Amino acid sequence: MRIGFVGAGRMAQAIAKGFTSRGIIKSRNIWASDRAEKTLERISTELRINVTHDNREVVEHSDILVLSVKPQVMDTVLAELSDLTDPSKLVVSVAAGVTLDHLQSRLLPDSRVIRLMPNTPILANAGASVYCVGKAAKPEDGPLIEALFKSVGTCDYLPENLMDAATGLSGSGPAFIFEAIDAMTSAGVQMGLPLSLAQRLVCQTVHGAGLLALQSGQSPAELRDAITSPGGTTIAGLSELEARGFRAALWQAVMTSAKRSAELGSGINDPVKPVDDKESPVCTIN
Ligand SMILES: NC(=O)c1ccc[n+]([C@@H]2O[C@H](COP(=O)([O-])OP(=O)(O)OC[C@H]3O[C@@H](n4cnc5c(N)ncnc54)[C@H](OP(=O)(O)O)[C@@H]3O)[C@@H](O)[C@H]2O)c1
Repeated sequence: MRIGFVGAGRMAQAIAKGFTSRGIIKSRNIWASDRAEKTLERISTELRINVTHDNREVVEHSDILVLSVKPQVMDTVLAELSDLTDPSKLVVSVAAGVTLDHLQSRLLPDSRVIRLMPNTPILANAGASVYCVGKAAKPEDGPLIEALFKSVGTCDYLPENLMDAATGLSGSGPAFIFEAIDAMTSAGVQMGLPLSLAQRLVCQTVHGAGLLALQSGQSPAELRDAITSPGGTTIAGLSELEARGFRAALWQAVMTSAKRSAELGSGINDPVKPVDDKESPVCTIN
């Protein structure tokens, strides 16, 4: 199976690295195109995948074509590639907000299309992806994408009307958790812990808490209450979170991110960031 990425930025690289490191797809069967020469040179060296500036060349070499550009440039890319997306290709868009109808209307009428919302923990084989399926897709297309992305985390089918919600939750979600990790690490450093140890303690705590919540069969509220003694240390910290609106802030962050996804899908476009933002370690949905 050959897979191609149009737009070789952070999300495409995370997926390509996830697949190659797990041996799911051989690097010689992966193609990627981008505008930035530096990006192409770097990923060609690091991932040993095939690279080009020519988006159309990627389509020609792909059975699965992943459109991994920003939502704001999706129409330009669709216009450039529409005549090449015959039913022999499966087209997968990872762009926030861009709907199946929108994609389908700009490709050949019988194009097989899937809308996927992955996240960057795919790099650690712990991604959380959701997808929905276009009307001309074959019955086996959804299960194929599900199996591929399950190999680097979880992958669930979702009706399209919930894709923006999932974008706010799991697509943008890692950034909210990184923010929490960073803040807790800083508190540890302020109290005298070495930075690397503070960060490791916080990351392991987030990892462990997530695993426990997944595996225990108990709700997060039950797990929290189980470590909250009356008059103890945890309730002292929790009362501070409550007073400062932690829960409401997180809740609203997810909702606002989902709303932004829907806006992008309905054509409310911001300018795309310049190329020199490239090496930023922060992964952004848009
Ligand atoms: N990052 C995440 O955590 C995440 C998670 C889920 C979904 N997504 C989705 O993934 C998509 C890509 O996001 P990203 O974070 O990977 O963005 P990114 O790092 O900016 O990558 C997009 C790449 O596409 C390139 N590009 C722009 N116009 C192009 C064109 N006409 N032809 C070929 N390449 C072109 C960009 O080059 P320039 O820099 O020169 O513009 C950039 O290298 C977005 O639609 C986003 O919603 C991202």
